[in-house]
Amino acid sequence: MVAGEVSAQSWREDGGRSLLRSLPVLRGTPPGFDPDRAPGDPVDLFAEWLSAAVAAGVPEPHAMTLSTIGPDGGPSSRMLIVKAVDAAGWHFAVNARSPKGGDLAADPRAALTFYWPALVRQIRVVGTAVDEGAAAGAADFLARPTGSREMALTLRQSEPLVDPTEIDTALAESRRRMAADDELVPVEWVSYALAPDSVEFWEGDPQRRHTRLRYRRGDDGWTRERLWP
Ligand SMILES: Cc1cc2nc3c(=O)[nH]c(=O)nc-3n(C[C@H](O)[C@H](O)[C@H](O)COP(=O)(O)O)c2cc1C
Repeated sequence: MVAGEVSAQSWREDGGRSLLRSLPVLRGTPPGFDPDRAPGDPVDLFAEWLSAAVAAGVPEPHAMTLSTIGPDGGPSSRMLIVKAVDAAGWHFAVNARSPKGGDLAADPRAALTFYWPALVRQIRVVGTAVDEGAAAGAADFLARPTGSREMALTLRQSEPLVDPTEIDTALAESRRRMAADDELVPVEWVSYALAPDSVEFWEGDPQRRHTRLRYRRGDDGWTRERLWP
């Protein structure tokens, strides 16, 4: 076992409590966040914070958790890549036949969470996912690398996989279809913009005096308020 690893036996004894309690948290370097100097539009602050995350070398800072509500009212979360952030919202694309695609079609309310440990910063977005139409879906799909398009074309994401060789067969079929039409786009590929109702910026403090600022969309634009840690 390497340092820090626990045996299956000791994990069974305490459910991993001793290991989990020993792990450090909020050990990054917060750049400093002054809510009084925050811009009036949360998209501007997101751009500022994302740029700082990129500059600090945060791995995959464009990865976010997308939380949705299923047709049965149950919650579901998974990681996704954000493609753009602008006045329309946070853009991402999904296969409409996947569970998350089904969720969003049934109930467009959704939430996003970003966390960048090196900067001890979290951003939470809550809003409504708006289907941006066929042209936006096609543009997103055609900008994907070939391998991603081949897999996406199978439209089988999250279905039970009985025999892994089925993937090879489906990919061969995708390649055949793409060779016949290099502009091929499945109608199931949907680009969404999550139009935000609220956006919260959180910068952690080792003493737990975290700095939090929540933007809420009102009739007259954005309002801002600080939140207790
Ligand atoms: C860092 C990271 C990025 C991911 N990006 C995507 C993505 O852009 N699109 C996607 O469909 N799945 C992505 N996934 C996989 C999803 O988290 C998820 O497993 C998949 O979309 C199936 O989700 P669903 O069953 O809720 O539809 C990513 C996973 C990770 C860990």
